Amino acid sequence: MKYKSQKVAYWFFALAILLFSLQIIYGFIMGFARIGMDGLHEFIPFNTARAVHTNLLVVWLLTGFMGAAYYIIPEEAQTELISVKLAFVQLISLALVGVVAIVGFHFNYWEGRKFLEIPRELDYLVVVNVLLFLGLILGTLYKGKRRTTTALVLTMGLVFAALLYLPGMIWFDSQVTDSFFRWWVVHLWVEGVWELIMGGILSYLLIKLTGVDREVIEKWLYVIVGLTFLSGILGTGHHYYFIGVNKIWLVVGGVFSALEPLAFLAMALFAMYMYKKGEKSHPNKIALFWTIGAAIVSFIGAGLLGFAHTLPQTNIYTHGTLVTAMHGHYAFWGAYAMIVLAIISYALPNMTGRKRYNVNTGHYAFWLTNIGMLGMTVAFGVAGVAQVYLERKMKLDFMDVQNEISIHFVVLLLCATMFATGVILYIIEFLRFGQPTDEAVLGENTTEE
Ligand code: HEM
Ligand code: HEM
Ligand SMILES: [Fe+2]
Repeated sequence: MKYKSQKVAYWFFALAILLFSLQIIYGFIMGFARIGMDGLHEFIPFNTARAVHTNLLVVWLLTGFMGAAYYIIPEEAQTELISVKLAFVQLISLALVGVVAIVGFHFNYWEGRKFLEIPRELDYLVVVNVLLFLGLILGTLYKGKRRTTTALVLTMGLVFAALLYLPGMIWFDSQVTDSFFRWWVVHLWVEGVWELIMGGILSYLLIKLTGVDREVIEKWLYVIVGLTFLSGILGTGHHYYFIGVNKIWLVVGGVFSALEPLAFLAMALFAMYMYKKGEKSHPNKIALFWTIGAAIVSFIGAGLLGFAHTLPQTNIYTHGTLVTAMHGHYAFWGAYAMIVLAIISYALPNMTGRKRYNVNTGHYAFWLTNIGMLGMTVAFGVAGVAQVYLERKMKLDFMDVQNEISIHFVVLLLCATMFATGVILYIIEFLRFGQPTDEAVLGENTTEE
Protein backbone atom coordinates (compact mmCIF):
# COMPACT_ATOMS: atom_id res chain seq x y z
CA MET A 1 0.00 0.00 0.00
CA LYS A 2 1.44 3.32 -1.04
CA TYR A 3 -1.29 5.80 -0.13
CA LYS A 4 -2.90 6.30 3.28
CA SER A 5 -6.32 6.87 1.78
CA GLN A 6 -6.39 3.32 0.39
CA LYS A 7 -7.21 2.20 3.93
CA VAL A 8 -10.83 3.27 3.50
CA ALA A 9 -11.22 0.12 1.38
CA TYR A 10 -10.94 -1.96 4.56
CA TRP A 11 -14.30 -0.73 5.85
CA PHE A 12 -16.03 -1.47 2.57
CA PHE A 13 -14.57 -4.97 2.68
CA ALA A 14 -15.75 -5.39 6.28
CA LEU A 15 -19.30 -4.33 5.31
CA ALA A 16 -19.22 -6.65 2.29
CA ILE A 17 -18.25 -9.62 4.46
CA LEU A 18 -20.94 -8.81 7.01
CA LEU A 19 -23.63 -8.73 4.30
CA PHE A 20 -22.19 -11.92 2.77
CA SER A 21 -22.65 -13.71 6.12
CA LEU A 22 -26.26 -12.55 6.28
CA GLN A 23 -26.81 -13.77 2.72
CA ILE A 24 -25.69 -17.25 3.72
CA ILE A 25 -28.05 -17.32 6.70
CA TYR A 26 -30.99 -16.68 4.37
CA GLY A 27 -29.67 -19.39 2.06
CA PHE A 28 -29.90 -21.85 4.93
CA ILE A 29 -33.41 -20.68 5.79
CA MET A 30 -34.49 -21.57 2.23
CA GLY A 31 -32.53 -24.82 2.18
CA PHE A 32 -34.24 -26.01 5.36
CA ALA A 33 -37.64 -24.81 4.17
CA ARG A 34 -37.19 -27.03 1.13
CA ILE A 35 -36.85 -30.15 3.30
CA GLY A 36 -39.94 -29.26 5.29
CA MET A 37 -38.22 -27.51 8.19
CA ASP A 38 -39.96 -24.19 7.75
CA GLY A 39 -40.36 -23.08 11.38
CA LEU A 40 -39.71 -19.44 10.52
CA HIS A 41 -42.45 -19.39 7.89
CA GLU A 42 -44.64 -16.91 9.82
CA PHE A 43 -41.88 -14.30 9.90
CA ILE A 44 -39.67 -15.15 6.93
CA PRO A 45 -41.58 -17.06 4.25
CA PHE A 46 -39.61 -18.59 1.36
CA ASN A 47 -40.25 -15.71 -1.06
CA THR A 48 -39.00 -13.12 1.44
CA ALA A 49 -35.92 -15.20 2.20
CA ARG A 50 -35.24 -15.52 -1.53
CA ALA A 51 -35.50 -11.77 -2.10
CA VAL A 52 -33.21 -11.07 0.86
CA HIS A 53 -30.72 -13.75 -0.25
CA THR A 54 -30.41 -12.53 -3.84
CA ASN A 55 -30.47 -8.79 -3.13
CA LEU A 56 -27.91 -9.10 -0.33
CA LEU A 57 -25.73 -10.89 -2.86
CA VAL A 58 -25.91 -7.96 -5.26
CA VAL A 59 -25.32 -5.40 -2.51
CA TRP A 60 -22.33 -7.16 -0.94
CA LEU A 61 -20.68 -7.66 -4.30
CA LEU A 62 -21.17 -3.99 -5.21
CA THR A 63 -19.78 -3.01 -1.79
CA GLY A 64 -16.78 -5.23 -2.49
CA PHE A 65 -16.30 -3.66 -5.94
CA MET A 66 -16.37 -0.20 -4.34
CA GLY A 67 -13.77 -1.28 -1.79
CA ALA A 68 -11.66 -2.67 -4.62
CA ALA A 69 -11.90 0.65 -6.47
CA TYR A 70 -10.93 2.67 -3.39
CA TYR A 71 -7.92 0.42 -2.99
CA ILE A 72 -6.85 0.15 -6.62
CA ILE A 73 -7.56 3.59 -8.09
CA PRO A 74 -5.26 5.72 -5.87
CA GLU A 75 -2.41 3.31 -6.47
CA GLU A 76 -2.93 3.12 -10.22
CA ALA A 77 -3.42 6.90 -10.50
CA GLN A 78 -0.51 7.55 -8.11
CA THR A 79 -2.33 9.98 -5.87
CA GLU A 80 -4.34 10.06 -2.64
CA LEU A 81 -8.11 9.71 -2.87
CA ILE A 82 -9.62 13.20 -3.22
CA SER A 83 -11.63 12.89 0.02
CA VAL A 84 -11.49 10.14 2.61
CA LYS A 85 -14.18 11.86 4.66
CA LEU A 86 -16.68 11.70 1.80
CA ALA A 87 -15.77 8.07 1.19
CA PHE A 88 -16.85 7.35 4.77
CA VAL A 89 -20.06 9.33 4.24
CA GLN A 90 -20.68 7.16 1.18
CA LEU A 91 -19.98 3.96 3.13
CA ILE A 92 -22.32 4.84 5.97
CA SER A 93 -25.15 5.97 3.70
CA LEU A 94 -24.74 2.79 1.66
CA ALA A 95 -25.02 0.70 4.81
CA LEU A 96 -28.11 2.66 5.91
CA VAL A 97 -29.93 2.24 2.60
CA GLY A 98 -29.02 -1.45 2.68
CA VAL A 99 -30.37 -1.94 6.19
CA VAL A 100 -33.62 -0.07 5.45
CA ALA A 101 -34.13 -2.13 2.28
CA ILE A 102 -33.46 -5.47 3.99
CA VAL A 103 -35.65 -4.68 6.99
CA GLY A 104 -38.36 -3.45 4.61
CA PHE A 105 -38.30 -6.76 2.74
CA HIS A 106 -39.52 -8.45 5.94
CA PHE A 107 -42.56 -6.16 5.98
CA ASN A 108 -43.44 -6.85 2.37
CA TYR A 109 -41.88 -3.60 1.22
CA TRP A 110 -40.37 -4.96 -2.01
CA GLU A 111 -41.11 -5.18 -5.71
CA GLY A 112 -41.07 -8.82 -6.78
CA ARG A 113 -38.61 -8.17 -9.61
CA LYS A 114 -35.85 -10.68 -9.01
CA PHE A 115 -32.54 -9.07 -7.98
CA LEU A 116 -34.04 -5.58 -8.19
CA GLU A 117 -36.54 -5.71 -5.36
CA ILE A 118 -35.52 -2.42 -3.75
CA PRO A 119 -38.60 -0.13 -3.95
CA ARG A 120 -38.26 2.79 -6.36
CA GLU A 121 -38.29 5.47 -3.64
CA LEU A 122 -35.18 3.92 -2.12
CA ASP A 123 -33.63 3.63 -5.57
CA TYR A 124 -33.21 7.41 -5.62
CA LEU A 125 -31.06 7.18 -2.50
CA VAL A 126 -29.02 4.46 -4.20
CA VAL A 127 -28.49 6.82 -7.15
CA VAL A 128 -27.23 9.65 -4.91
CA ASN A 129 -24.92 7.22 -3.14
CA VAL A 130 -23.47 5.85 -6.35
CA LEU A 131 -22.99 9.36 -7.77
CA LEU A 132 -20.94 10.27 -4.70
CA PHE A 133 -18.87 7.11 -5.16
CA LEU A 134 -18.25 7.76 -8.85
CA GLY A 135 -17.43 11.41 -8.15
CA LEU A 136 -14.70 10.34 -5.73
CA ILE A 137 -13.26 7.74 -8.10
CA LEU A 138 -13.36 9.92 -11.23
CA GLY A 139 -12.01 12.92 -9.30
CA THR A 140 -9.08 10.83 -8.08
CA LEU A 141 -8.35 9.53 -11.57
CA TYR A 142 -8.53 13.07 -12.96
CA LYS A 143 -6.16 14.43 -10.32
CA GLY A 144 -3.77 11.50 -10.64
CA LYS A 145 -0.45 11.41 -12.46
CA ARG A 146 -1.10 8.23 -14.35
CA ARG A 147 -4.00 6.68 -16.26
CA THR A 148 -3.57 2.97 -16.74
CA THR A 149 -5.69 0.66 -18.87
CA THR A 150 -6.41 -1.37 -15.75
CA ALA A 151 -7.83 1.66 -13.92
CA LEU A 152 -9.79 2.79 -16.98
CA VAL A 153 -11.42 -0.60 -17.56
CA LEU A 154 -12.33 -0.88 -13.89
CA THR A 155 -13.77 2.65 -13.86
CA MET A 156 -15.59 2.15 -17.14
CA GLY A 157 -17.22 -0.97 -15.68
CA LEU A 158 -18.33 0.94 -12.58
CA VAL A 159 -19.72 3.93 -14.56
CA PHE A 160 -21.65 1.67 -16.97
CA ALA A 161 -22.94 -0.42 -14.08
CA ALA A 162 -24.36 2.76 -12.54
CA LEU A 163 -25.92 3.93 -15.83
CA LEU A 164 -27.49 0.53 -16.42
CA TYR A 165 -29.27 0.70 -13.07
CA LEU A 166 -31.48 3.48 -14.48
CA PRO A 167 -33.59 1.51 -17.03
CA GLY A 168 -34.61 -0.71 -14.11
CA MET A 169 -36.12 2.33 -12.38
CA ILE A 170 -38.62 3.24 -15.10
CA TRP A 171 -42.18 2.21 -14.33
CA PHE A 172 -44.03 0.07 -16.92
CA ASP A 173 -47.57 -1.16 -16.63
CA SER A 174 -46.86 -4.05 -18.99
CA GLN A 175 -45.21 -7.11 -17.51
CA VAL A 176 -43.49 -7.77 -20.84
CA THR A 177 -41.90 -4.32 -21.11
CA ASP A 178 -40.93 -4.41 -17.46
CA SER A 179 -39.23 -7.75 -17.95
CA PHE A 180 -37.56 -6.54 -21.16
CA PHE A 181 -35.84 -3.68 -19.31
CA ARG A 182 -35.17 -5.60 -16.10
CA TRP A 183 -32.78 -7.71 -18.15
CA TRP A 184 -30.90 -4.60 -19.25
CA VAL A 185 -29.89 -4.32 -15.63
CA VAL A 186 -29.51 -7.95 -14.57
CA HIS A 187 -28.06 -9.44 -17.75
CA LEU A 188 -25.99 -6.48 -18.94
CA TRP A 189 -24.53 -6.29 -15.47
CA VAL A 190 -23.36 -9.86 -14.98
CA GLU A 191 -22.66 -10.67 -18.62
CA GLY A 192 -21.42 -7.23 -19.60
CA VAL A 193 -20.11 -4.44 -17.47
CA TRP A 194 -19.40 -6.44 -14.31
CA GLU A 195 -17.05 -8.50 -16.46
CA LEU A 196 -15.10 -5.29 -17.05
CA ILE A 197 -14.94 -4.72 -13.31
CA MET A 198 -13.77 -8.30 -12.87
CA GLY A 199 -11.27 -7.91 -15.71
CA GLY A 200 -9.88 -4.72 -14.15
CA ILE A 201 -9.46 -6.27 -10.70
CA LEU A 202 -8.01 -9.44 -12.24
CA SER A 203 -5.53 -7.46 -14.29
CA TYR A 204 -4.43 -5.46 -11.22
CA LEU A 205 -3.99 -8.62 -9.15
CA LEU A 206 -2.06 -10.44 -11.89
CA ILE A 207 0.29 -7.49 -12.34
CA LYS A 208 0.98 -7.50 -8.61
CA LEU A 209 1.07 -11.23 -7.97
CA THR A 210 2.81 -12.69 -11.01
CA GLY A 211 5.27 -9.92 -11.78
CA VAL A 212 4.52 -10.12 -15.51
CA ASP A 213 4.88 -6.78 -17.36
CA ARG A 214 1.92 -4.47 -17.29
CA GLU A 215 2.01 -4.07 -21.09
CA VAL A 216 1.53 -7.80 -21.62
CA ILE A 217 -1.26 -8.12 -19.09
CA GLU A 218 -3.16 -5.07 -20.30
CA LYS A 219 -3.10 -6.26 -23.90
CA TRP A 220 -5.17 -9.24 -22.83
CA LEU A 221 -7.56 -6.91 -21.12
CA TYR A 222 -8.50 -5.35 -24.48
CA VAL A 223 -9.28 -8.78 -25.87
CA ILE A 224 -11.51 -9.56 -22.88
CA VAL A 225 -13.37 -6.24 -23.14
CA GLY A 226 -13.85 -6.83 -26.89
CA LEU A 227 -15.19 -10.36 -26.50
CA THR A 228 -17.48 -9.26 -23.67
CA PHE A 229 -19.19 -6.55 -25.71
CA LEU A 230 -19.30 -8.59 -28.89
CA SER A 231 -21.22 -11.43 -27.27
CA GLY A 232 -22.83 -10.01 -24.16
CA ILE A 233 -24.91 -7.14 -25.53
CA LEU A 234 -26.98 -9.10 -28.05
CA GLY A 235 -26.69 -12.14 -25.79
CA THR A 236 -29.40 -10.41 -23.71
CA GLY A 237 -31.71 -12.14 -26.19
CA HIS A 238 -31.40 -15.42 -24.27
CA HIS A 239 -33.84 -13.89 -21.75
CA TYR A 240 -36.29 -12.81 -24.46
CA TYR A 241 -37.12 -16.23 -25.92
CA PHE A 242 -40.60 -16.74 -24.53
CA ILE A 243 -41.53 -13.52 -22.77
CA GLY A 244 -43.79 -12.12 -25.46
CA VAL A 245 -41.41 -10.13 -27.65
CA ASN A 246 -40.42 -10.58 -31.32
CA LYS A 247 -39.35 -14.12 -32.31
CA ILE A 248 -36.14 -12.77 -33.89
CA TRP A 249 -34.64 -12.95 -30.40
CA LEU A 250 -34.66 -16.74 -30.54
CA VAL A 251 -31.93 -16.57 -33.19
CA VAL A 252 -30.09 -13.47 -31.98
CA GLY A 253 -30.11 -14.58 -28.35
CA GLY A 254 -29.10 -18.12 -29.21
CA VAL A 255 -26.20 -17.18 -31.46
CA PHE A 256 -24.70 -14.35 -29.43
CA SER A 257 -25.15 -15.88 -26.00
CA ALA A 258 -23.48 -19.05 -27.29
CA LEU A 259 -20.41 -16.87 -27.88
CA GLU A 260 -20.41 -15.47 -24.34
CA PRO A 261 -18.27 -18.26 -22.83
CA LEU A 262 -15.37 -17.00 -25.00
CA ALA A 263 -14.85 -13.94 -22.81
CA PHE A 264 -14.73 -16.15 -19.71
CA LEU A 265 -12.46 -18.63 -21.46
CA ALA A 266 -10.13 -15.77 -22.35
CA MET A 267 -10.05 -14.72 -18.71
CA ALA A 268 -9.22 -18.23 -17.52
CA LEU A 269 -6.48 -18.71 -20.13
CA PHE A 270 -5.17 -15.23 -19.39
CA ALA A 271 -4.82 -15.94 -15.66
CA MET A 272 -3.26 -19.38 -16.13
CA TYR A 273 -0.85 -18.15 -18.78
CA MET A 274 0.29 -15.18 -16.68
CA TYR A 275 0.76 -17.51 -13.72
CA LYS A 276 2.98 -19.80 -15.79
CA LYS A 277 4.90 -16.93 -17.30
CA GLY A 278 5.41 -15.05 -14.04
CA GLU A 279 8.26 -15.46 -11.63
CA LYS A 280 5.84 -16.35 -8.79
CA SER A 281 7.97 -14.56 -6.25
CA HIS A 282 5.14 -12.76 -4.48
CA PRO A 283 4.68 -14.33 -1.03
CA ASN A 284 0.88 -13.88 -0.87
CA LYS A 285 -0.08 -17.35 -2.07
CA ILE A 286 -3.62 -17.18 -0.71
CA ALA A 287 -4.44 -14.14 -2.84
CA LEU A 288 -2.96 -15.97 -5.83
CA PHE A 289 -5.24 -18.98 -5.23
CA TRP A 290 -8.33 -16.77 -5.11
CA THR A 291 -7.26 -14.85 -8.21
CA ILE A 292 -6.53 -17.83 -10.46
CA GLY A 293 -9.50 -19.65 -8.89
CA ALA A 294 -11.89 -16.83 -9.83
CA ALA A 295 -10.77 -16.93 -13.46
CA ILE A 296 -11.18 -20.71 -13.72
CA VAL A 297 -14.38 -21.17 -11.71
CA SER A 298 -16.08 -18.30 -13.55
CA PHE A 299 -15.41 -20.06 -16.83
CA ILE A 300 -17.06 -23.22 -15.51
CA GLY A 301 -19.96 -21.53 -13.71
CA ALA A 302 -20.75 -18.78 -16.19
CA GLY A 303 -19.27 -20.10 -19.43
CA LEU A 304 -19.96 -23.84 -19.37
CA LEU A 305 -23.00 -24.00 -17.09
CA GLY A 306 -24.43 -20.90 -18.77
CA PHE A 307 -23.98 -22.45 -22.19
CA ALA A 308 -25.72 -25.58 -20.93
CA HIS A 309 -29.14 -23.86 -20.97
CA THR A 310 -28.67 -20.93 -23.31
CA LEU A 311 -29.99 -22.33 -26.59
CA PRO A 312 -33.76 -21.94 -27.07
CA GLN A 313 -34.06 -25.69 -27.64
CA THR A 314 -32.90 -26.41 -24.09
CA ASN A 315 -34.08 -23.24 -22.40
CA ILE A 316 -37.68 -24.02 -23.28
CA TYR A 317 -37.38 -26.93 -20.82
CA THR A 318 -35.02 -25.54 -18.19
CA HIS A 319 -36.26 -21.95 -17.90
CA GLY A 320 -36.86 -20.87 -14.32
CA THR A 321 -36.07 -24.25 -12.80
CA LEU A 322 -33.36 -25.28 -10.36
CA VAL A 323 -31.08 -25.67 -13.39
CA THR A 324 -31.03 -21.86 -13.37
CA ALA A 325 -30.18 -21.87 -9.64
CA MET A 326 -27.33 -24.31 -10.34
CA HIS A 327 -25.81 -21.95 -12.90
CA GLY A 328 -26.61 -18.82 -10.83
CA HIS A 329 -24.70 -20.11 -7.80
CA TYR A 330 -21.54 -21.27 -9.55
CA ALA A 331 -21.37 -18.27 -11.90
CA PHE A 332 -21.84 -15.66 -9.18
CA TRP A 333 -19.46 -17.51 -6.90
CA GLY A 334 -16.67 -17.96 -9.44
CA ALA A 335 -16.80 -14.63 -11.16
CA TYR A 336 -17.78 -12.08 -8.59
CA ALA A 337 -17.62 -13.51 -5.08
CA MET A 338 -14.18 -15.05 -5.67
CA ILE A 339 -12.70 -11.92 -7.26
CA VAL A 340 -13.89 -9.82 -4.30
CA LEU A 341 -12.43 -12.36 -1.86
CA ALA A 342 -9.23 -12.27 -3.93
CA ILE A 343 -8.75 -8.51 -3.72
CA ILE A 344 -9.53 -8.61 0.01
CA SER A 345 -6.93 -11.35 0.53
CA TYR A 346 -4.40 -9.33 -1.43
CA ALA A 347 -5.11 -5.99 0.25
CA LEU A 348 -5.37 -7.09 3.89
CA PRO A 349 -1.66 -7.75 4.57
CA ASN A 350 -0.78 -4.51 2.79
CA MET A 351 -3.28 -2.41 4.74
CA THR A 352 -2.57 -3.88 8.16
CA GLY A 353 1.14 -4.57 7.82
CA ARG A 354 0.61 -8.13 9.08
CA LYS A 355 2.18 -10.56 6.66
CA ARG A 356 0.02 -13.61 7.27
CA TYR A 357 0.68 -14.85 3.74
CA ASN A 358 0.57 -18.58 3.99
CA VAL A 359 -1.38 -19.59 7.09
CA ASN A 360 -3.47 -22.77 7.14
CA THR A 361 -6.75 -21.05 8.02
CA GLY A 362 -6.57 -19.11 4.76
CA HIS A 363 -5.94 -22.22 2.67
CA TYR A 364 -8.72 -24.18 4.40
CA ALA A 365 -11.07 -21.25 3.77
CA PHE A 366 -10.28 -21.44 0.07
CA TRP A 367 -10.73 -25.20 -0.30
CA LEU A 368 -13.75 -25.67 1.97
CA THR A 369 -15.72 -22.89 0.30
CA ASN A 370 -14.80 -24.11 -3.16
CA ILE A 371 -15.50 -27.79 -2.61
CA GLY A 372 -18.69 -26.92 -0.71
CA MET A 373 -19.93 -24.66 -3.51
CA LEU A 374 -19.09 -27.26 -6.15
CA GLY A 375 -21.13 -29.81 -4.18
CA MET A 376 -24.04 -27.37 -3.88
CA THR A 377 -23.89 -26.78 -7.62
CA VAL A 378 -24.09 -30.52 -8.30
CA ALA A 379 -27.01 -30.86 -5.86
CA PHE A 380 -28.91 -28.02 -7.53
CA GLY A 381 -28.09 -29.51 -10.93
CA VAL A 382 -29.37 -32.99 -10.09
CA ALA A 383 -32.50 -31.53 -8.49
CA GLY A 384 -32.94 -29.29 -11.54
CA VAL A 385 -32.68 -32.04 -14.12
CA ALA A 386 -35.09 -34.22 -12.13
CA GLN A 387 -37.46 -31.24 -11.90
CA VAL A 388 -37.31 -30.62 -15.65
CA TYR A 389 -38.03 -34.26 -16.38
CA LEU A 390 -40.89 -34.72 -13.94
CA GLU A 391 -42.54 -31.34 -14.37
CA ARG A 392 -41.99 -30.53 -18.04
CA LYS A 393 -41.75 -33.97 -19.65
CA MET A 394 -43.98 -36.08 -17.42
CA LYS A 395 -46.27 -33.09 -16.70
CA LEU A 396 -46.53 -33.76 -12.98
CA ASP A 397 -47.90 -31.02 -10.76
CA PHE A 398 -45.38 -28.35 -9.67
CA MET A 399 -45.73 -28.93 -5.94
CA ASP A 400 -45.66 -32.75 -6.27
CA VAL A 401 -42.38 -32.41 -8.10
CA GLN A 402 -40.95 -30.14 -5.40
CA ASN A 403 -41.76 -32.92 -2.90
CA GLU A 404 -40.06 -35.56 -5.03
CA ILE A 405 -36.82 -33.64 -5.29
CA SER A 406 -36.57 -32.45 -1.69
CA ILE A 407 -34.01 -35.19 -0.91
CA HIS A 408 -31.45 -33.32 -3.01
CA PHE A 409 -31.71 -30.42 -0.61
CA VAL A 410 -30.38 -32.64 2.20
CA VAL A 411 -27.24 -33.05 0.09
CA LEU A 412 -27.31 -29.34 -0.67
CA LEU A 413 -27.43 -28.49 3.04
CA LEU A 414 -24.48 -30.78 3.81
CA CYS A 415 -22.39 -29.12 1.13
CA ALA A 416 -23.63 -25.70 2.25
CA THR A 417 -22.39 -26.50 5.76
CA MET A 418 -18.94 -27.20 4.37
CA PHE A 419 -19.13 -23.98 2.38
CA ALA A 420 -20.21 -21.98 5.43
CA THR A 421 -17.36 -23.48 7.51
CA GLY A 422 -14.94 -22.16 4.91
CA VAL A 423 -16.56 -18.75 5.05
CA ILE A 424 -16.27 -18.72 8.85
CA LEU A 425 -12.54 -19.49 8.54
CA TYR A 426 -12.19 -16.68 6.01
CA ILE A 427 -13.85 -14.29 8.46
CA ILE A 428 -11.63 -15.50 11.32
CA GLU A 429 -8.59 -14.72 9.15
CA PHE A 430 -10.04 -11.34 8.26
CA LEU A 431 -10.45 -10.51 11.95
CA ARG A 432 -6.97 -11.80 12.87
CA PHE A 433 -5.40 -9.27 10.53
CA GLY A 434 -6.74 -6.51 12.73
CA GLN A 435 -7.39 -3.02 11.49
CA PRO A 436 -5.38 -1.04 8.95
CA THR A 437 -2.48 1.12 10.13
CA ASP A 438 -0.63 4.10 8.70
CA GLU A 439 2.65 2.32 9.36
CA ALA A 440 1.72 -0.17 6.67
CA VAL A 441 2.13 2.51 4.01
CA LEU A 442 5.00 1.66 1.67
CA GLY A 443 5.63 -1.50 3.64
CA GLU A 444 4.32 -3.59 0.80
CA ASN A 445 6.30 -6.32 -0.83
CA THR A 446 5.42 -5.40 -4.40
CA THR A 447 6.95 -6.84 -7.48
CA GLU A 448 6.11 -3.80 -9.57
CA GLU A 449 7.69 -0.35 -9.85
C1 HEM B 1 -20.62 -14.29 -14.27
C2 HEM B 1 -21.50 -14.34 -15.18
C3 HEM B 1 -22.90 -14.83 -14.97
C4 HEM B 1 -23.68 -14.77 -13.84
C5 HEM B 1 -23.32 -14.19 -12.49
C6 HEM B 1 -24.95 -15.38 -14.18
C7 HEM B 1 -26.01 -15.51 -13.30
C8 HEM B 1 -27.30 -15.84 -13.68
C9 HEM B 1 -28.47 -15.77 -12.85
C10 HEM B 1 -28.48 -15.35 -11.39
C11 HEM B 1 -29.53 -16.12 -13.59
C12 HEM B 1 -30.99 -16.11 -13.14
C13 HEM B 1 -31.52 -14.74 -13.47
C14 HEM B 1 -32.98 -14.51 -13.21
O1 HEM B 1 -33.79 -15.42 -13.45
O2 HEM B 1 -33.33 -13.38 -12.79
C15 HEM B 1 -29.05 -16.43 -14.92
C16 HEM B 1 -29.84 -16.83 -15.97
C17 HEM B 1 -29.34 -17.28 -17.17
N1 HEM B 1 -28.00 -17.32 -17.55
FE1 HEM B 1 -26.46 -16.61 -16.53
N2 HEM B 1 -24.92 -15.79 -15.49
C18 HEM B 1 -23.69 -15.48 -16.01
C19 HEM B 1 -23.24 -15.76 -17.29
C20 HEM B 1 -23.94 -16.48 -18.23
C21 HEM B 1 -23.43 -16.89 -19.52
C22 HEM B 1 -22.03 -16.59 -20.02
C23 HEM B 1 -24.44 -17.56 -20.15
C24 HEM B 1 -24.48 -18.21 -21.48
C25 HEM B 1 -23.49 -18.76 -22.07
C26 HEM B 1 -25.59 -17.54 -19.26
C27 HEM B 1 -26.81 -18.08 -19.55
C28 HEM B 1 -27.95 -17.88 -18.80
C29 HEM B 1 -29.30 -18.21 -19.24
C30 HEM B 1 -29.69 -18.85 -20.55
C31 HEM B 1 -30.17 -17.83 -18.21
C32 HEM B 1 -31.69 -17.95 -18.18
C33 HEM B 1 -32.12 -19.13 -17.39
C34 HEM B 1 -33.61 -19.29 -17.40
O3 HEM B 1 -34.22 -19.20 -18.46
O4 HEM B 1 -34.19 -19.56 -16.32
N3 HEM B 1 -25.24 -16.89 -18.10
N4 HEM B 1 -27.68 -16.27 -14.94
C1 HEM C 1 -24.97 -21.71 2.51
C2 HEM C 1 -25.02 -21.29 1.36
C3 HEM C 1 -26.23 -21.17 0.47
C4 HEM C 1 -27.42 -21.85 0.44
C5 HEM C 1 -27.89 -22.96 1.37
C6 HEM C 1 -28.18 -21.32 -0.67
C7 HEM C 1 -29.46 -21.74 -1.02
C8 HEM C 1 -30.25 -21.16 -1.98
C9 HEM C 1 -31.59 -21.55 -2.29
C10 HEM C 1 -32.34 -22.69 -1.61
C11 HEM C 1 -32.03 -20.75 -3.29
C12 HEM C 1 -33.41 -20.75 -3.92
C13 HEM C 1 -33.48 -21.74 -5.03
C14 HEM C 1 -34.93 -21.98 -5.30
O1 HEM C 1 -35.54 -21.23 -6.04
O2 HEM C 1 -35.44 -22.94 -4.73
C15 HEM C 1 -30.97 -19.83 -3.62
C16 HEM C 1 -31.03 -18.87 -4.60
C17 HEM C 1 -29.92 -18.17 -5.05
N1 HEM C 1 -28.67 -18.14 -4.44
FE1 HEM C 1 -28.07 -19.22 -2.87
N2 HEM C 1 -27.46 -20.35 -1.29
C18 HEM C 1 -26.25 -20.22 -0.62
C19 HEM C 1 -25.22 -19.38 -0.93
C20 HEM C 1 -25.16 -18.61 -2.06
C21 HEM C 1 -24.01 -17.89 -2.53
C22 HEM C 1 -22.65 -17.86 -1.83
C23 HEM C 1 -24.35 -17.30 -3.70
C24 HEM C 1 -23.53 -16.46 -4.63
C25 HEM C 1 -22.27 -16.47 -4.72
C26 HEM C 1 -25.75 -17.60 -3.95
C27 HEM C 1 -26.48 -17.16 -5.03
C28 HEM C 1 -27.81 -17.42 -5.25
C29 HEM C 1 -28.54 -16.94 -6.41
C30 HEM C 1 -27.97 -16.11 -7.55
C31 HEM C 1 -29.86 -17.41 -6.28
C32 HEM C 1 -31.01 -17.20 -7.29
C33 HEM C 1 -30.94 -18.38 -8.22
C34 HEM C 1 -31.90 -18.31 -9.36
O3 HEM C 1 -31.92 -17.29 -10.02
O4 HEM C 1 -32.61 -19.28 -9.62
N3 HEM C 1 -26.21 -18.38 -2.94
N4 HEM C 1 -29.87 -20.10 -2.81
FE1 LIG D 1 -28.04 -13.51 -19.36
